[in-house]
Amino acid sequence: MSATARKMAPNAEDIRARKGGTPLVSLTAYTTPMAQFMDGHCDFVLVGDSVGMVLHGLPSTLGVSMEMMILHGQAVARGLSQAMMVIDMPFASYEEGPAQAFRNAARLMAETGAGAVKLEGGVEMAETIRFLVKRGIPVMAHIGLTPQSINTLGGYKVQGRDAQADAVLADAHAVADAGAFSVVLEKVPQGLADRITAEVAIPTIGIGASAGCDGQILVVDDMLGFFTAFKPKFVKRYADLGPLAEAAISEYATEVRARSFPAPEHVFADQAPVAAKTAAPKASQKD
Ligand code: KIV
Repeated sequence: MSATARKMAPNAEDIRARKGGTPLVSLTAYTTPMAQFMDGHCDFVLVGDSVGMVLHGLPSTLGVSMEMMILHGQAVARGLSQAMMVIDMPFASYEEGPAQAFRNAARLMAETGAGAVKLEGGVEMAETIRFLVKRGIPVMAHIGLTPQSINTLGGYKVQGRDAQADAVLADAHAVADAGAFSVVLEKVPQGLADRITAEVAIPTIGIGASAGCDGQILVVDDMLGFFTAFKPKFVKRYADLGPLAEAAISEYATEVRARSFPAPEHVFADQAPVAAKTAAPKASQKD
C-alpha cells in the first residue's frame, strides 16, 4: 500500500462512531509478529489478559500482572500502524476504586501507547469508568462472562439466561451511561446480545454473543489453533496451526538426529566464493 493510501489508526471516538455500521473486526494479540499479521485486517487489536492463559500457561487470567501487560503491550504496539490498540487492565489493578484505576490505566497507556483500556464489570464499575473517561482515558467495558470473576461466577458459564438477563442489561446501560466508548459482551445468549445492541448507543463487541453485535472479537490463539487446552463453543478455528507446528518440529528433530539437517545449502564453504570481475561488490548475507 502506498504511503498516501495508508489508513490512520482509528481512535476511541472513531470506534464509537461505528455503531450500527459495518461490523468492527478485532482479535487479541500479544507479540509483534502477530500484531503485524492482523494490522491491515482489524479495526482494533486487544492486548488481552488472556495472554496469561494462552502464552504463559496460567490456569486463569487472575495471575496476570501490570508488568506482563506492559511488556506485551509494547511488543504489540511495535507491530501496529493501522489498527487501534486497546489494552486490558489486569485483575486487581482497578477494583479498589477510581484513583487506583486511574493510576494504573494512565501507566498502561503511557508505557505502551495504547489508545484505550478495557476493564471488566458493569454496574459496579460505572463510577470508575466515569472517573477515567472524565480524566482522558477511553474505556472499553466488558460484561457478561467476566473471566477475572470466575471464582464468584462459579466457572465459565453463559451469563444472562432467564432471570439473569435484566442484570446483564442493566450492566450494559450502566457502562454506556458512564461513558464507555464500546462494550464487550462475552458468552451471553443471542437474543439478549441483540437486545443490548439495539438499546445501547455504543458499539457492542461480541465473543460468544451474536452476529448482530456491532463487532466481533476472538482470542487469536484460539482461532488459529495454537491454544489447545480447551475450545469454547463460540470459537471457530479458522486454521489448525498447533498440529502443523508440532509436525514441523518433529520433522526437524528427525533430520537433526539423522544428520540430514543442515543440508549443503545451509552451511558455509571454507573458501569465500570468487567475486565476478565485472560485478560491483555487494553486501550479501549468503556468505
Ligand atoms: O483477554 C481477552 O482476551 C479478552 C477477550 C476474550 C475479549 O478479554
